[in-house]
Amino acid sequence: MIWPENVTIKEVGPRDGLQNEKVMIPAQSKIDWIDQLSETGLSYIEVTSFVHPKWIPQLSDSIEVAKGIKRNPDITYAALVPNQRGLESAIEANIDEISVFMSSSETHNLKNINKSISDTLPVMKDVIGSAAKSGKTVRGYVSTVFGCPYEGQVSPEQVFRVCDQLFEYGINEVSLGDTIGVASPRQVALFLERAVKRYDISKMALHFHDTRGMALANVLQSLDYGVEIFDSSLGGLGGCPYAPGASGNVATDDLIHMLHNMGIQTGINQEKLIKAASMIQSFLEKPLPSHQMAVYNAQ
Ligand code: HMG
Ligand code: MG
Repeated sequence: MIWPENVTIKEVGPRDGLQNEKVMIPAQSKIDWIDQLSETGLSYIEVTSFVHPKWIPQLSDSIEVAKGIKRNPDITYAALVPNQRGLESAIEANIDEISVFMSSSETHNLKNINKSISDTLPVMKDVIGSAAKSGKTVRGYVSTVFGCPYEGQVSPEQVFRVCDQLFEYGINEVSLGDTIGVASPRQVALFLERAVKRYDISKMALHFHDTRGMALANVLQSLDYGVEIFDSSLGGLGGCPYAPGASGNVATDDLIHMLHNMGIQTGINQEKLIKAASMIQSFLEKPLPSHQMAVYNAQ
């Protein structure tokens, strides 16, 4: 078994983490938190999303936040974009990388972005093409890879169909989402066995939610297949508003604790990370769900 020496962590807490939080965090607090995240050694932060504010009220301040943060030239600042309208705002806010998103199952796609998969694909094609013309790289999220809250099992063929299209349109990386945290290591292994033969491993990220406590086990399984990019959310913040019962992403602090103890480097400073976690915890006025923060809070 050969694990990668280095792993890239993509921090999605300011977007995936906050999008499900009911307590409205003021834009300036988000800016302060993202600025602190920028000090931790992270190389990638997804800062917000440019979606309809009616759907995700917490991120309705996206332009203000994206314009307000201090930019570290060594960090890629990304944002989620569903369509041309969102792309225009992301470009206005000088976002470095655009993340498009869609699901591999019909019903989740419909609930999340109000379109069938076949009606979504041309939108993706346009957005990816326009982003490229504006000099932006594009990441593609594919959701419900390991199961859909409405349809149950999702086959690898359904996932590959969407990934193939997005790569053809020009994404530089796919992020494979276990949106509702149903995957088991065996399912991850069976999926990756096929996926690594189909796609370049350096263009595949895994995005695990920890709804059933399986996220770290699934990361470990993915490392066995050579995956080197993982999305995570500081303190385990998060969920998906259109995936009932979904809880947060795998916690960045727990993930880093595991990786560093396995001798895998991330470039992230654990102490600075915990400082940033305690900042967002104080804004939310509730304990964060990660194990590292449970230890921190008990001290
Ligand atoms: P729609 O209602 O079908 O949009 O929503 P529309 O094109 O019919 O337009 C309706 C109105 O929305 C119009 O305004 C548009 O201008 C406006 P009106 O003329 O009525 O005043 N509009 C917008 N406003 C602001 N920003 C925009 C935008 N687009 C249209 N970008 C839409 C379609 C996609 C916009 C909507 O369904 C939406 O915003 N969905 C977002 C849902 C979302 O953010 N979900 C959570 C993120 S996905 C996730 O968490 C999974 C992930 O983490 C991976 C994983 O875990 O698997 C990524
Ligand atoms: Mg997610």
